[in-house]
Amino acid sequence: MSQGSQAGAATGAGGNSGARARGRAVGFAVVGAGLVGPRHAEFATKAEGAVLRVVCDLREDRGRVLADKLGAEWVPDFHEVVQREDVQVVNVCLPTALHLEVATAAAEAGKHVMVEKPLDLIECAAGAAADRRLPT
Ligand SMILES: NC(=O)c1ccc[n+]([C@@H]2O[C@H](COP(=O)([O-])OP(=O)(O)OC[C@H]3O[C@@H](n4cnc5c(N)ncnc54)[C@H](O)[C@@H]3O)[C@@H](O)[C@H]2O)c1
Repeated sequence: MSQGSQAGAATGAGGNSGARARGRAVGFAVVGAGLVGPRHAEFATKAEGAVLRVVCDLREDRGRVLADKLGAEWVPDFHEVVQREDVQVVNVCLPTALHLEVATAAAEAGKHVMVEKPLDLIECAAGAAADRRLPT
């Protein structure tokens, strides 16, 4: 993780309160709050040194509810999420057809990316994206 210095004040529930209190926690955003996203979001609240900052879902009844439950912020637009300075890791839990678009946007914004498999439905598109050199 290379962006720890960008981490702002901690706000999430659970997890490593010491690291968060010192403002050095790694900020996570979970994009997609359907079946799988809530489990990833919960893990982010419990992982050592991590804090869940954002839950992103187009649906307020999923995104806001999960964010409120876990002490994070609901943001419906993933473009906004990947630009946030307090988010270092973007965890993509969207329908498969959206994985590559969101993962690429996050990587191009300098974020670490976790993505539910597969990266894309078309093997060559996923391979080309993986091979592309991203800004450091
Ligand atoms: N469900 C499972 O048991 C399971 C297991 C392993 C892997 N996966 C993989 O995990 C991924 C997610 O699966 P799921 O079952 O949680 O899907 P889901 O359809 O239950 O949830 C996806 C969520 O993404 C939201 N969404 C859609 N477009 C969006 C956008 N542009 N911006 C923000 N939010 C948007 C939807 O509102 C929905 O809440 C898939 O790739 C799936 O293959 C699922």
